[in-house]
Amino acid sequence: MISPVRWHGDRLLLLDQTLLPVQEVEKPCDSWQAVAEAIRTLVVRGAPAIGVAAAFGVALAARESRAKDFPGLLADLEEAIKGLGATRPTAVNLFWALDRMRRVAVEQRLLPLAAVRARLLAEAQAILDEDVAANRAMGAYGAALVPEGGRILTHCNAGALATGGYGTAGGVIRAAHERGKVRLVWVGETRPVMQGSRLTAWEMAKEGIPHRLISDVAAAFVMKRGEVDLVVTGADRIAANGDTANKIGTYGLAVLARHHGIPFYVAAPSSTIDPAIATGASIVIEERDPAEVRGVAGRQTAPADSPVFNPAFDVTPAELITAIITERGVVRPPYRFTA
Ligand code: MRU
Repeated sequence: MISPVRWHGDRLLLLDQTLLPVQEVEKPCDSWQAVAEAIRTLVVRGAPAIGVAAAFGVALAARESRAKDFPGLLADLEEAIKGLGATRPTAVNLFWALDRMRRVAVEQRLLPLAAVRARLLAEAQAILDEDVAANRAMGAYGAALVPEGGRILTHCNAGALATGGYGTAGGVIRAAHERGKVRLVWVGETRPVMQGSRLTAWEMAKEGIPHRLISDVAAAFVMKRGEVDLVVTGADRIAANGDTANKIGTYGLAVLARHHGIPFYVAAPSSTIDPAIATGASIVIEERDPAEVRGVAGRQTAPADSPVFNPAFDVTPAELITAIITERGVVRPPYRFTA
Protein backbone atom coordinates (compact mmCIF):
# COMPACT_ATOMS: atom_id res chain seq x y z
CA MET A 1 0.00 0.00 0.00
CA ILE A 2 1.17 3.53 -0.72
CA SER A 3 1.84 5.17 2.70
CA PRO A 4 2.37 8.90 2.41
CA VAL A 5 2.59 9.38 6.20
CA ARG A 6 4.02 6.83 8.60
CA TRP A 7 5.59 6.71 12.02
CA HIS A 8 8.86 4.81 12.13
CA GLY A 9 10.99 4.43 15.26
CA ASP A 10 10.89 7.84 16.87
CA ARG A 11 10.06 10.03 13.91
CA LEU A 12 7.58 10.74 11.16
CA LEU A 13 8.33 9.77 7.57
CA LEU A 14 6.59 11.66 4.77
CA LEU A 15 6.78 10.44 1.19
CA ASP A 16 8.03 13.66 -0.43
CA GLN A 17 5.28 14.47 -2.95
CA THR A 18 7.25 17.35 -4.43
CA LEU A 19 9.69 14.81 -5.88
CA LEU A 20 7.11 12.45 -7.39
CA PRO A 21 6.84 10.91 -9.92
CA VAL A 22 10.59 11.06 -10.55
CA GLN A 23 11.91 10.05 -7.14
CA GLU A 24 10.37 8.11 -4.24
CA VAL A 25 12.03 9.56 -1.17
CA GLU A 26 10.76 9.64 2.39
CA LYS A 27 11.48 12.82 4.30
CA PRO A 28 12.07 12.35 8.02
CA CYS A 29 10.48 14.86 10.41
CA ASP A 30 11.50 14.95 14.05
CA SER A 31 9.88 18.20 15.15
CA TRP A 32 6.48 19.79 14.75
CA GLN A 33 8.17 22.66 12.93
CA ALA A 34 9.48 20.23 10.31
CA VAL A 35 5.96 18.83 9.87
CA ALA A 36 4.52 22.35 9.51
CA GLU A 37 7.12 23.19 6.86
CA ALA A 38 6.34 19.94 5.01
CA ILE A 39 2.63 20.82 4.95
CA ARG A 40 3.32 24.37 3.78
CA THR A 41 5.60 23.24 0.95
CA LEU A 42 3.32 20.37 -0.23
CA VAL A 43 5.74 17.59 0.75
CA VAL A 44 2.52 16.22 2.24
CA ARG A 45 -0.77 17.47 0.82
CA GLY A 46 -4.39 16.43 0.40
CA ALA A 47 -6.90 17.20 3.14
CA PRO A 48 -6.87 13.94 5.13
CA ALA A 49 -3.10 13.48 4.81
CA ILE A 50 -2.53 17.01 6.10
CA GLY A 51 -4.70 16.20 9.13
CA VAL A 52 -2.85 12.95 9.82
CA ALA A 53 0.58 14.60 9.48
CA ALA A 54 -0.47 17.46 11.77
CA ALA A 55 -1.66 14.97 14.41
CA PHE A 56 1.80 13.38 14.38
CA GLY A 57 3.22 16.91 14.56
CA VAL A 58 1.40 17.39 17.88
CA ALA A 59 2.72 14.03 19.09
CA LEU A 60 6.23 15.19 18.17
CA ALA A 61 5.67 18.47 20.05
CA ALA A 62 4.73 16.44 23.13
CA ARG A 63 7.94 14.42 22.83
CA GLU A 64 10.08 17.53 22.37
CA SER A 65 8.50 19.41 25.27
CA ARG A 66 10.70 19.84 28.32
CA ALA A 67 7.68 20.71 30.50
CA LYS A 68 7.60 19.24 34.00
CA ASP A 69 3.85 19.49 34.53
CA PHE A 70 0.67 19.27 32.46
CA PRO A 71 0.02 23.04 32.12
CA GLY A 72 3.57 23.42 30.76
CA LEU A 73 3.05 20.57 28.31
CA LEU A 74 -0.29 21.97 27.19
CA ALA A 75 1.30 25.38 26.57
CA ASP A 76 3.90 23.71 24.33
CA LEU A 77 1.17 21.77 22.52
CA GLU A 78 -0.85 24.94 21.98
CA GLU A 79 2.18 26.57 20.35
CA ALA A 80 2.54 23.60 18.00
CA ILE A 81 -1.20 23.52 17.28
CA LYS A 82 -1.11 27.22 16.39
CA GLY A 83 1.94 26.76 14.15
CA LEU A 84 0.54 23.71 12.40
CA GLY A 85 -2.87 25.37 12.00
CA ALA A 86 -1.26 28.37 10.29
CA THR A 87 0.08 26.31 7.38
CA ARG A 88 -2.92 25.89 5.08
CA PRO A 89 -6.37 27.40 5.71
CA THR A 90 -8.83 25.53 3.49
CA ALA A 91 -8.75 21.82 4.40
CA VAL A 92 -10.84 21.44 7.55
CA ASN A 93 -9.26 18.05 8.32
CA LEU A 94 -6.21 19.95 9.59
CA PHE A 95 -8.22 21.79 12.25
CA TRP A 96 -10.33 18.71 12.98
CA ALA A 97 -7.20 16.66 13.73
CA LEU A 98 -5.59 19.41 15.81
CA ASP A 99 -8.78 19.82 17.89
CA ARG A 100 -8.93 16.07 18.43
CA MET A 101 -5.30 15.97 19.61
CA ARG A 102 -5.88 18.86 22.01
CA ARG A 103 -9.00 17.18 23.40
CA VAL A 104 -7.13 13.93 24.01
CA ALA A 105 -4.29 15.75 25.78
CA VAL A 106 -6.73 17.54 28.09
CA GLU A 107 -8.63 14.32 28.82
CA GLN A 108 -5.35 12.71 29.97
CA ARG A 109 -4.22 15.65 32.12
CA LEU A 110 -4.11 13.60 35.36
CA LEU A 111 -1.77 10.96 33.94
CA PRO A 112 2.04 11.12 34.16
CA LEU A 113 3.48 13.18 31.28
CA ALA A 114 5.12 10.12 29.74
CA ALA A 115 1.69 8.49 29.51
CA VAL A 116 0.18 11.62 27.93
CA ARG A 117 2.95 11.61 25.33
CA ALA A 118 2.35 7.93 24.55
CA ARG A 119 -1.38 8.51 24.35
CA LEU A 120 -0.93 11.37 21.85
CA LEU A 121 1.23 9.22 19.61
CA ALA A 122 -1.38 6.45 19.77
CA GLU A 123 -4.11 8.96 18.90
CA ALA A 124 -2.22 10.18 15.81
CA GLN A 125 -1.84 6.57 14.70
CA ALA A 126 -5.57 6.02 15.34
CA ILE A 127 -6.41 9.04 13.15
CA LEU A 128 -4.30 7.50 10.38
CA ASP A 129 -5.82 4.01 10.76
CA GLU A 130 -9.38 5.35 10.92
CA ASP A 131 -8.76 7.36 7.78
CA VAL A 132 -7.68 4.28 5.84
CA ALA A 133 -10.72 2.37 7.12
CA ALA A 134 -13.01 5.26 6.14
CA ASN A 135 -11.49 5.30 2.66
CA ARG A 136 -12.10 1.59 2.19
CA ALA A 137 -15.73 2.01 3.28
CA MET A 138 -16.13 4.99 0.96
CA GLY A 139 -14.56 2.99 -1.83
CA ALA A 140 -17.15 0.23 -1.44
CA TYR A 141 -20.07 2.69 -1.44
CA GLY A 142 -18.62 4.62 -4.37
CA ALA A 143 -17.79 1.57 -6.48
CA ALA A 144 -21.49 0.67 -6.50
CA LEU A 145 -22.15 3.94 -8.36
CA VAL A 146 -19.72 3.10 -11.17
CA PRO A 147 -21.30 1.39 -14.18
CA GLU A 148 -19.66 -1.69 -15.73
CA GLY A 149 -16.96 -0.50 -18.11
CA GLY A 150 -17.05 2.91 -16.42
CA ARG A 151 -15.00 5.79 -17.72
CA ILE A 152 -14.22 8.04 -14.78
CA LEU A 153 -12.77 11.54 -14.84
CA THR A 154 -10.93 12.76 -11.75
CA HIS A 155 -9.10 15.91 -10.79
CA CYS A 156 -6.09 16.70 -8.62
CA ASN A 157 -5.00 13.84 -6.40
CA ALA A 158 -7.48 12.39 -3.94
CA GLY A 159 -5.77 9.02 -3.92
CA ALA A 160 -3.64 7.17 -1.39
CA LEU A 161 -1.14 10.02 -1.38
CA ALA A 162 -3.73 12.54 -0.24
CA THR A 163 -4.88 10.44 2.71
CA GLY A 164 -3.64 7.94 5.29
CA GLY A 165 -3.78 5.48 2.37
CA TYR A 166 -6.18 4.08 -0.31
CA GLY A 167 -7.75 7.46 -1.11
CA THR A 168 -11.17 9.10 -1.20
CA ALA A 169 -12.03 9.70 -4.87
CA GLY A 170 -8.98 7.56 -5.58
CA GLY A 171 -10.40 4.95 -3.22
CA VAL A 172 -13.64 4.87 -5.20
CA ILE A 173 -11.60 4.35 -8.37
CA ARG A 174 -9.45 1.65 -6.70
CA ALA A 175 -12.49 -0.18 -5.35
CA ALA A 176 -14.28 -0.01 -8.71
CA HIS A 177 -11.12 -1.28 -10.41
CA GLU A 178 -10.84 -4.15 -7.89
CA ARG A 179 -14.40 -5.10 -8.93
CA GLY A 180 -13.42 -5.02 -12.62
CA LYS A 181 -15.68 -2.08 -13.43
CA VAL A 182 -13.20 0.51 -14.69
CA ARG A 183 -12.55 0.83 -18.41
CA LEU A 184 -10.60 4.08 -18.15
CA VAL A 185 -9.69 6.87 -15.76
CA TRP A 186 -9.25 10.29 -17.30
CA VAL A 187 -6.66 12.12 -15.20
CA GLY A 188 -6.69 15.90 -15.50
CA GLU A 189 -3.18 17.26 -15.04
CA THR A 190 -4.36 19.93 -12.55
CA ARG A 191 -2.51 23.16 -13.08
CA PRO A 192 -0.75 24.92 -11.51
CA VAL A 193 1.23 22.30 -9.56
CA MET A 194 0.12 19.19 -11.41
CA GLN A 195 -1.16 16.90 -8.67
CA GLY A 196 -3.10 15.02 -11.37
CA SER A 197 -0.22 14.25 -13.71
CA ARG A 198 2.51 13.98 -11.07
CA LEU A 199 0.60 12.08 -8.38
CA THR A 200 -2.66 10.54 -9.62
CA ALA A 201 -1.11 9.22 -12.83
CA TRP A 202 1.77 7.83 -10.74
CA GLU A 203 -0.70 6.00 -8.49
CA MET A 204 -2.69 4.68 -11.46
CA ALA A 205 0.46 3.44 -13.18
CA LYS A 206 1.75 1.83 -9.99
CA GLU A 207 -1.49 -0.10 -9.53
CA GLY A 208 -2.11 -0.97 -13.15
CA ILE A 209 -5.34 1.04 -13.40
CA PRO A 210 -6.03 1.98 -17.05
CA HIS A 211 -5.74 5.74 -17.33
CA ARG A 212 -5.16 8.50 -19.78
CA LEU A 213 -3.79 11.93 -18.97
CA ILE A 214 -5.39 15.06 -20.34
CA SER A 215 -4.54 18.69 -19.97
CA ASP A 216 -7.22 20.41 -17.90
CA VAL A 217 -8.45 22.28 -20.94
CA ALA A 218 -9.31 19.01 -22.72
CA ALA A 219 -11.97 17.96 -20.19
CA ALA A 220 -14.88 19.62 -22.01
CA PHE A 221 -13.88 17.96 -25.27
CA VAL A 222 -13.75 14.41 -23.87
CA MET A 223 -17.13 14.96 -22.21
CA LYS A 224 -18.58 16.26 -25.45
CA ARG A 225 -17.31 13.14 -27.22
CA GLY A 226 -19.34 11.02 -24.77
CA GLU A 227 -16.23 9.46 -23.23
CA VAL A 228 -16.91 10.22 -19.57
CA ASP A 229 -19.53 8.29 -17.55
CA LEU A 230 -18.95 10.01 -14.23
CA VAL A 231 -16.70 12.50 -12.47
CA VAL A 232 -15.42 11.86 -8.96
CA THR A 233 -13.28 14.24 -6.93
CA GLY A 234 -12.21 14.68 -3.33
CA ALA A 235 -12.94 17.64 -1.07
CA ASP A 236 -11.10 19.92 1.30
CA ARG A 237 -14.11 21.25 3.17
CA ILE A 238 -17.83 20.60 2.80
CA ALA A 239 -20.24 23.16 4.23
CA ALA A 240 -23.49 22.19 6.01
CA ASN A 241 -25.45 22.74 2.78
CA GLY A 242 -23.11 20.55 0.69
CA ASP A 243 -21.13 23.34 -1.01
CA THR A 244 -17.69 21.81 -1.50
CA ALA A 245 -14.23 23.35 -1.62
CA ASN A 246 -11.74 21.32 -3.61
CA LYS A 247 -8.74 21.89 -5.87
CA ILE A 248 -9.07 24.82 -8.25
CA GLY A 249 -10.77 23.63 -11.42
CA THR A 250 -13.25 21.35 -9.67
CA TYR A 251 -16.08 23.87 -10.02
CA GLY A 252 -15.45 24.14 -13.75
CA LEU A 253 -15.63 20.37 -14.10
CA ALA A 254 -18.92 20.28 -12.17
CA VAL A 255 -20.40 22.91 -14.51
CA LEU A 256 -19.19 20.91 -17.52
CA ALA A 257 -20.58 17.68 -16.09
CA ARG A 258 -24.00 19.25 -15.57
CA HIS A 259 -23.99 20.62 -19.13
CA HIS A 260 -23.19 17.16 -20.52
CA GLY A 261 -25.59 15.26 -18.22
CA ILE A 262 -22.75 13.43 -16.45
CA PRO A 263 -23.04 12.57 -12.72
CA PHE A 264 -20.61 14.49 -10.53
CA TYR A 265 -19.64 12.82 -7.24
CA VAL A 266 -17.60 14.04 -4.29
CA ALA A 267 -15.95 11.46 -2.03
CA ALA A 268 -14.83 12.59 1.43
CA PRO A 269 -14.66 11.33 5.00
CA SER A 270 -16.82 12.93 7.71
CA SER A 271 -13.69 14.73 8.96
CA THR A 272 -13.96 16.88 5.79
CA ILE A 273 -17.49 18.01 6.62
CA ASP A 274 -17.65 21.31 8.49
CA PRO A 275 -21.23 21.69 9.74
CA ALA A 276 -20.22 24.94 11.49
CA ILE A 277 -20.07 26.58 8.05
CA ALA A 278 -23.52 27.14 6.57
CA THR A 279 -22.49 27.60 2.95
CA GLY A 280 -19.37 27.59 0.82
CA ALA A 281 -19.30 31.39 0.86
CA SER A 282 -17.62 31.26 4.29
CA ILE A 283 -14.84 28.87 3.28
CA VAL A 284 -11.42 30.52 3.33
CA ILE A 285 -9.69 29.92 0.02
CA GLU A 286 -5.91 29.67 0.16
CA GLU A 287 -3.98 31.81 -2.33
CA ARG A 288 -0.54 30.50 -3.17
CA ASP A 289 2.71 31.82 -4.59
CA PRO A 290 2.32 33.57 -8.00
CA ALA A 291 5.40 31.67 -9.15
CA GLU A 292 3.23 28.52 -9.38
CA VAL A 293 1.30 30.18 -12.23
CA ARG A 294 4.20 32.02 -13.83
CA GLY A 295 6.01 28.75 -14.44
CA VAL A 296 5.75 25.01 -14.81
CA ALA A 297 8.03 22.76 -12.76
CA GLY A 298 10.43 25.59 -12.08
CA ARG A 299 10.61 26.76 -15.69
CA GLN A 300 9.39 30.27 -16.29
CA THR A 301 6.46 30.40 -18.72
CA ALA A 302 5.23 33.96 -18.14
CA PRO A 303 6.81 37.38 -17.74
CA ALA A 304 8.45 37.49 -14.32
CA ASP A 305 6.34 40.46 -13.22
CA SER A 306 2.93 39.58 -14.70
CA PRO A 307 0.31 39.99 -11.97
CA VAL A 308 -1.19 36.66 -10.92
CA PHE A 309 -4.28 35.39 -9.11
CA ASN A 310 -3.56 31.92 -7.75
CA PRO A 311 -6.42 30.47 -5.69
CA ALA A 312 -5.57 26.90 -4.67
CA PHE A 313 -9.23 25.89 -4.35
CA ASP A 314 -12.71 26.75 -5.59
CA VAL A 315 -16.16 26.01 -4.29
CA THR A 316 -18.60 23.79 -6.16
CA PRO A 317 -22.19 24.68 -5.28
CA ALA A 318 -24.18 21.81 -3.79
CA GLU A 319 -26.72 21.88 -6.63
CA LEU A 320 -24.05 20.64 -9.05
CA ILE A 321 -23.14 17.63 -6.87
CA THR A 322 -25.06 14.45 -7.69
CA ALA A 323 -24.08 12.78 -4.40
CA ILE A 324 -21.48 12.94 -1.64
CA ILE A 325 -19.86 9.61 -0.79
CA THR A 326 -18.73 9.27 2.83
CA GLU A 327 -17.67 6.30 4.97
CA ARG A 328 -21.22 6.24 6.33
CA GLY A 329 -22.94 5.97 2.96
CA VAL A 330 -24.01 7.95 -0.08
CA VAL A 331 -25.77 11.25 0.66
CA ARG A 332 -27.93 12.91 -1.99
CA PRO A 333 -29.38 16.44 -2.11
CA PRO A 334 -30.70 18.35 -0.34
CA TYR A 335 -27.60 18.16 1.88
CA ARG A 336 -28.05 19.12 5.51
CA PHE A 337 -24.98 18.13 7.48
CA THR A 338 -25.12 18.54 11.22
CA ALA A 339 -22.51 18.10 13.96
O1 MRU B 1 -3.39 21.59 -2.62
P1 MRU B 1 -3.64 20.14 -2.36
O2 MRU B 1 -2.85 19.24 -3.24
O3 MRU B 1 -3.50 19.80 -0.90
O4 MRU B 1 -5.17 19.94 -2.74
C1 MRU B 1 -5.73 18.67 -2.60
C2 MRU B 1 -7.12 18.57 -3.06
O5 MRU B 1 -7.75 19.52 -3.46
C3 MRU B 1 -7.77 17.22 -2.92
O6 MRU B 1 -8.67 16.98 -3.95
C4 MRU B 1 -8.50 17.16 -1.58
O7 MRU B 1 -7.64 17.54 -0.53
C5 MRU B 1 -9.07 15.85 -1.29
S1 MRU B 1 -7.83 14.67 -0.93
C6 MRU B 1 -8.52 13.21 -0.49
